[in-house]
Amino acid sequence: MSFLAVCIAAYILCVGLLPFDVFCDGPRKLFDGYSKEFLPRLNESKPVKVSFDFELITIKEVNAKEQTITVYGWVRQSWHNPFLQWNSSEYGGIQTIQTSAKTLWVPDILMYNNVDNQDRVGGGPTTYKTHVVMHSNGDNDWTSPALFKTVCAIDVTYFPFDMQTCSLKFGSWASGSHQLRMCPLNMTGKSNQYVDNGEWEIRRNRVEKKRCPVPLRGI
Ligand SMILES: *[C@@H]1O[C@H](CO)[C@@H](O)[C@H](O)[C@H]1NC(C)=O
Ligand SMILES: *[C@@H]1O[C@H](CO)[C@@H](O)[C@H](O)[C@H]1NC(C)=O
Ligand SMILES: *[C@@H]1O[C@H](CO)[C@@H](O)[C@H](O)[C@H]1NC(C)=O
Repeated sequence: MSFLAVCIAAYILCVGLLPFDVFCDGPRKLFDGYSKEFLPRLNESKPVKVSFDFELITIKEVNAKEQTITVYGWVRQSWHNPFLQWNSSEYGGIQTIQTSAKTLWVPDILMYNNVDNQDRVGGGPTTYKTHVVMHSNGDNDWTSPALFKTVCAIDVTYFPFDMQTCSLKFGSWASGSHQLRMCPLNMTGKSNQYVDNGEWEIRRNRVEKKRCPVPLRGI
């Protein structure tokens, strides 16, 4: 019995290590001379298109005293990086790899009205701990669950029949619309896996696209 267990463990190890070998060679070359500081675009006059989707899984808390709501949801972002492509037939047929969001360019799309003490940023690699999935054609996908605490003016005058409107505003922090364009991808809003809060019910669910705000540099 214990032999069997070792065998399986070793097998998993082998399977795990095999692509890794190729991986070591591939991305090292892939990342040679790569600088994550540059926007992934070949033409300076064209913005990087980032598809963005926020799917609301649940409302965790509505806090009238603090005037905040805390929501849990999934954020999906995808974009194309022309500098990080490889020919999969030269790398053992590997078509996707996963890599830490700290090693490559990722969009700085943050939640503007985030007030979480734990994580003041509300987006980017400090909020999203998951890896970025890189495809050999240069497409990058980044999907992550996250908890956002956001400011929302809550008026409980008509409690318990009050209706509150809270907005979750996402946008790029440092890049203007000529550098990064956010394109709503499906923009699910309320998930079909939505878990009821018990106290609060979602009545309306609206996705709006505002013109990119003026970059808020220097705040
Ligand atoms: C970059 O895009 C602009 C606008 O579409 C176009 O006029 C220009 O020729 C492009 N430059 C290059 C080097 O492709
Ligand atoms: C990928 O590599 C294979 C084998 O070296 C080659 O035949 C093929 O043309 C390459 N494809 C591209 C798009 O460069
Ligand atoms: C977006 O919607 C299309 C069509 O409804 C669907 O095929 C696709 O899987 C959706 N994408 C995501 C990321 O949910």
